[in-house]
Amino acid sequence: MTALPTFSLNDGHTLPALGFGTWRVAGEEAEEEVRSALAAGYRLIDTAASYGNEREVGTAVAGSGVPREQVLVTSKLRGADQGYDAALRGFERTLGALGLDRLDLHLIHWPLPARDLYVDSWRALIRLREEGAVRSIGVSNFTAAHLDRIIGETGVVPAVNQIELHPGFVQEEMRAANAERGIVTESWGPLGRGKGLLEAPEVRAVADAHGVSPAQAVLRWQHQLGVLPLPKSADPQRQRDNLDVAGFTLTGEEMARLGSLPQRRLGGDPDTHEE
Ligand SMILES: NC(=O)c1ccc[n+]([C@@H]2O[C@H](COP(=O)([O-])OP(=O)(O)OC[C@H]3O[C@@H](n4cnc5c(N)ncnc54)[C@H](OP(=O)(O)O)[C@@H]3O)[C@@H](O)[C@H]2O)c1
Repeated sequence: MTALPTFSLNDGHTLPALGFGTWRVAGEEAEEEVRSALAAGYRLIDTAASYGNEREVGTAVAGSGVPREQVLVTSKLRGADQGYDAALRGFERTLGALGLDRLDLHLIHWPLPARDLYVDSWRALIRLREEGAVRSIGVSNFTAAHLDRIIGETGVVPAVNQIELHPGFVQEEMRAANAERGIVTESWGPLGRGKGLLEAPEVRAVADAHGVSPAQAVLRWQHQLGVLPLPKSADPQRQRDNLDVAGFTLTGEEMARLGSLPQRRLGGDPDTHEE
């Protein structure tokens, strides 16, 4: 399998071209999925305090046989832990649940602007990075206004902004906003959560033209947009397929075709979403 180039972050670190998502899986299932994803070759695992599976993710990483320094683990600060002191305490719980002595990437999960605690939470993440407890820090579901506020008040630019992004929600403005600020865009729900998007005739046609699956076509589209997708799959064969998107290139016309599907958010609106 050809390897895709890594992403360079604004803090001097790198991330793999593609990571593995773990939302909505818990218990033994989560452990098994992460173990097989690591065996398939994933080296970036995305979890969150609110997923309730950090313990299982940590167990899978520890038991995978992959050296710790080769696996990058992302977690996210949940809404209940926003605020400076609460974010520090929330981070300790995350690290304890994962069984790690250092986290690779920590994100503020949602801005929750009505609570107005995301700047204080960001200051806590900055401290954790300064102390070496976290390698890289970033945000998720932040708009350009949220980004400008934390950057303006702290002078620290997030390394990553993880946002909903797939052909059914192409996020052209947010991709540009992230890029202008030197922030890598990670995509959640990159497969549009599976059903529907992967059955769309436009997606199937592009996939068929390259002899790949609809999921591979969609992930390749994101790669060519300069986005880092985090597909989730319980199925070991799909896990491998989703990682195998380096061997073909979409034409400009195919990129445009995948980007012109009807647009609709699947998840929350960052300005109003509450956790
Ligand atoms: N920051 C945030 O607010 C946020 C929000 C949501 C998600 N996330 C992160 O982003 C990750 C990905 O998003 P997601 O899990 O919502 O959705 P997703 O990755 O877009 O889609 C997952 C769905 O697609 C199916 N699937 C995977 N590979 C496939 C393939 N090759 N062919 C056909 N179907 C396939 C999976 O089914 P099987 O499992 O049966 O293969 C699953 O039902 C999450 O797991 C989480 O880590 C972050």
